[in-house]
Amino acid sequence: MMIRKPIIAGNWKMYKTMGEAIELANGVKRALSDEERLDIVLCPAYTVLGEVSEIIAETNIRLGAQDLFWEAEGAFTGEISPVMLKDVGCSYVIIGHSERRKFFYETNETVNRKVKSALKHKLIPIMCVGEQLEDRDAGRTFKVVEDHLVNGLKGLAKEEAKDVVIAYEPVWAIGTGRNATPAQAQEVHKFIRERLAVLLGNETARSTRIQYGGSVKPENIKEIMQQPDVDGALVGGASLKTDSFVKIIKNGLEGKL
Ligand code: PGA
Repeated sequence: MMIRKPIIAGNWKMYKTMGEAIELANGVKRALSDEERLDIVLCPAYTVLGEVSEIIAETNIRLGAQDLFWEAEGAFTGEISPVMLKDVGCSYVIIGHSERRKFFYETNETVNRKVKSALKHKLIPIMCVGEQLEDRDAGRTFKVVEDHLVNGLKGLAKEEAKDVVIAYEPVWAIGTGRNATPAQAQEVHKFIRERLAVLLGNETARSTRIQYGGSVKPENIKEIMQQPDVDGALVGGASLKTDSFVKIIKNGLEGKL
């Protein structure tokens, strides 16, 4: 029996012009619109959220954004608010992706403000945590993951935090073709769940979904999903083609059945 409903999300990053996004969303819809055994989320760029939203309306596929700003509205040139994301049909939002931490100076503090704002506006945050290669090599993996986790969720009550999805994404595995082994993923996922139990109680820890991200492919997803504390995946590169994303959903599900 599955304790938690699996969740696989495609992070399209800064890829796909309008025509390309429409083609990909239609492909995913054709193959997966009736799939109810797991939550499927597409996270396209802001410019195509509206079109993808229309394509997947009335299917079981959900829409997510790749970031947000924490204010509801205001003079914040270039930013997108949670109200706007809800308005265009989003139910999820990725927060604190390592690329945002690296290139756009996101900190635990900004991540925390964004998580709180998302929850306030009824968007489910997919909060990313994960160590760099030098952290892993120096034996600091748990320390870094704990720092991202504890500070990202700071100040949240149990009741508020219960919907948050955590994505464990070792930075050295993102876009490198070098995925964490299933055992390495499980080790950190288990640690995250234990820390969640201390922070938010056993019940929340048991129900929180923890995704793995970093070079997920059709060939490695099943074994990763077989790990007891892995509840899904956040997929970058391999979510950009209908074929490989659909295979990831199918093989990933097999790992949980
Ligand atoms: P990748 O990216 O699947 O291309 O490694 C994952 C992510 O950044 O979420």
